[in-house]
Amino acid sequence: MKSIKTAILLLLLTIGAVSTVKANVPDSVSIFIYNTPSDSHKGLHIAYSVDQKTWYPIGNDRSFVTSDYGPWGSQKMMFNPSVLKDGDTWYAVWQLNEKNNQFATTKTSVLSVWKPQDYPYVTTTDNKPLTVLNPLLTKQHGQFAVTFASKDGKYYQVTSSDFKTWSKATSVTSLKDTHKKCVVNGQTFTGDISTAPWTLIENLINKIDATQVREAKYNESMRDDERRFMNIHDLQANLTIDFAGSKAISNHLIGIFFEDINYAADGGLYAELIQNRDFEYTNKDNGNWNSKSFWKTEGEGSFNIATDNPIHKNNSHYAILSGGKGTKLVNEGFDGICVKAGEKYNLAAFLRSENGQHPTVYLREGDKIIAKTSLSSSKDWKQQKAVLAVKETSTKAELVIELSKEGSLDIDFVSLFPQNTFKGRKNGMRTDLAQTLADMQPKFVRFPGGCLSHGNGLNNMYHWKNTIGPLWERKGDFNIWHYHQSLGLGFYEYFQFCEDIGAEPLPVLPAGVPCQNSSVGGMGQQGGLPFKANATDDSVMTMEEYLQELLDLIEWANGDPKTSKWAKMRADAGHEKPFNLKMLGVGNEDLISDVFEERFTFLKNGIKAKYPDINIVGTAGPFFEGSDYEYGWQIAKKENVEIVDEHYYVNPGWYIYNQQFYDKYERKGPQVYLGEWASRSNRLENALVEALHITNLERNADIVTMSSYAPLFGREGHCQWNPDLIYFNGSEVHPAPSYYTQMLAGRNSGTEYIPSTITFVGTDGKDAPQSEGVTLRVNSSVVKAENGDLIIKLVNLLPQTVTMKLNLAGFDNFNKEAQLSVLSGNPTDSKAAPKNSTLTVGEQTTYELPAHSFSVIRITR
Ligand code: AHR
Repeated sequence: MKSIKTAILLLLLTIGAVSTVKANVPDSVSIFIYNTPSDSHKGLHIAYSVDQKTWYPIGNDRSFVTSDYGPWGSQKMMFNPSVLKDGDTWYAVWQLNEKNNQFATTKTSVLSVWKPQDYPYVTTTDNKPLTVLNPLLTKQHGQFAVTFASKDGKYYQVTSSDFKTWSKATSVTSLKDTHKKCVVNGQTFTGDISTAPWTLIENLINKIDATQVREAKYNESMRDDERRFMNIHDLQANLTIDFAGSKAISNHLIGIFFEDINYAADGGLYAELIQNRDFEYTNKDNGNWNSKSFWKTEGEGSFNIATDNPIHKNNSHYAILSGGKGTKLVNEGFDGICVKAGEKYNLAAFLRSENGQHPTVYLREGDKIIAKTSLSSSKDWKQQKAVLAVKETSTKAELVIELSKEGSLDIDFVSLFPQNTFKGRKNGMRTDLAQTLADMQPKFVRFPGGCLSHGNGLNNMYHWKNTIGPLWERKGDFNIWHYHQSLGLGFYEYFQFCEDIGAEPLPVLPAGVPCQNSSVGGMGQQGGLPFKANATDDSVMTMEEYLQELLDLIEWANGDPKTSKWAKMRADAGHEKPFNLKMLGVGNEDLISDVFEERFTFLKNGIKAKYPDINIVGTAGPFFEGSDYEYGWQIAKKENVEIVDEHYYVNPGWYIYNQQFYDKYERKGPQVYLGEWASRSNRLENALVEALHITNLERNADIVTMSSYAPLFGREGHCQWNPDLIYFNGSEVHPAPSYYTQMLAGRNSGTEYIPSTITFVGTDGKDAPQSEGVTLRVNSSVVKAENGDLIIKLVNLLPQTVTMKLNLAGFDNFNKEAQLSVLSGNPTDSKAAPKNSTLTVGEQTTYELPAHSFSVIRITR
């Protein structure tokens, strides 16, 4: 005992001695912060020096902060940065381009993570916008000052006491350049010099080194695994399940995220077959489109677009078809109209005619007519209806409207809708696609975006009120993903669909700021919706009005139709009972600027004041680390937000090397909604690493309470984003292997997590530890379902079988025929699907985990 005490004492003394020895380094060093003028898409680099003569770049060419202003490509540039150190904090400003009256601001006290940027607007005292060129940051009399040149050749200055709110610009006589020139890696750069504690710089260097090592690991792929594991054979392991150590987990872990991207809504889940049915397409949707897109005329007549006296002000364009008998207006649908023999389709169109037209309307494929009917018309707009009974299946039919006699016909809102929709809903969903979603048994549906939600510019934010009511009164808009949103699939349809598949609705609406990558109506967040009304421009609503819009949504979804006008609209549309909305997302992976924070907090407080039981879903940027992630989480904690939406799209290796990502998360704070995630590419390898991640999510499902893969749908030939979970065309559905991972997880989710351990053993049954490379690639997760079934998920990423002994001692009275689903095959296969069978199980069961596989064993009672 005495000798142990002496040893501990000696150890402590040694540690003490080591810590008092001063390493031969200075307390602080000079740092030079600069950019690369030849490449403005790069950002701030940092070099350090002990003598201000020789400078050592940290991370070589690494940018520690890049400009996040506006769209990718044409913007996100940094010109003439100016960095000032004040106290322990570095403050930076820079010029954004040569035209805007904004500059960028950010700050840091750690150098590795910088605060999400803001872009203050600059005007003179009489509100004249001033382009900001060459901004120079100084501190004068306790105030930050940015002195800059403007296009009029004069100099100006704005000041701020908090680096947030800036004064109007006042004229100054000159701009004194205080930047320094230093040589880094043999090249002379212009920048600013300050000092930093050596420990900070050392930490930064270590962090960058560690990041580089980590990033190399993330690029590991199954392509090299045959070679990597060529000396590994006959793997055997025991799975021990600790029934006594179970914990409650979320029963909402697996959901879906529906965004109208890749033609997911119009031309996708929404069953409408006519494209540009209301002649409202414009070149804002897509540079080449206009009101006539996807329509053509045949015969001697003409096809014109008019806007006078339309069917509704929100639907102002209509077609005028004029000419002799037989003049045709033809719609090509979405890559052709897909119809099935023996099925019926509801045809509807608003028609108006002075000379009593009775147009023939038919579906044709080439010269063959496969369904035919006729419509009547009246002198005033009236919706005419008929049914087209299809005789032959076609995947490339066209809809033809043909004049019955010489004259003219006004035509608008032409709709062809299958009678056979999911659950027979009017204005409903395509059965095959909707069923594919229902088969996943998702516990919630997030909608309508994504970037679609916060939109491209202030005027493109998603307004749910534009999406309800009669279809021709809905106010369609351009889609940030470069096509059109008819909004035929609107909030009523989304909520109804959630109910139809037994999933909770999770609407995610803008936080009063558009997408930070916006390019329409200005750049980036454009200062967000204003708190005060603009006396000269009422096209943009105020934050007060926008808050009301969110409150009205809650009322519409949950209110009592007898007392609430919004709830009455829901009831009038066919849903008397409340939709029982419990959560609302405010914002989507926004830049966590001051502009965002002010608006998010305002909305959250406003919603909580009126509806304290609604859970608010906050947002933490597009990455698993970095400034938006850090600051998004800070705000969520400060504001006591219930749950935070995280997003990451990463290489397969990330999932292998980040299995403990959530084990370290604080359990007391907000919960996590992993709202968008996927591994890059579209093969079995991806499905398997995603399965691996799900086993780790399940272990953490006391804090990670919801997750959804993204994006969900991709119409073949129209994908703006890959990979997607479910590919489709007009008549077929092609789920990716990742779909099956989500489906197996969704159908086999649990409410109780039971810890399990995998131990590798030799042929003699004794422990035979394996390398990290092996152990990281084999994982398990055991959960108990609400009905008491035991579900064992096993992932094997290795190129060889693992013989696994399952020990079920502690779980009794179970059915000896367990259900087994296995997704396995060649890692490059993009069509892999699971196979179902049964497995005979006892207290001890040997199960051969196939190479490259995800197995789900469900033991019923
Ligand atoms: O899922 C596709 C896009 O990825 C989403 O719209 C956006 O939130 C994210 O950047």
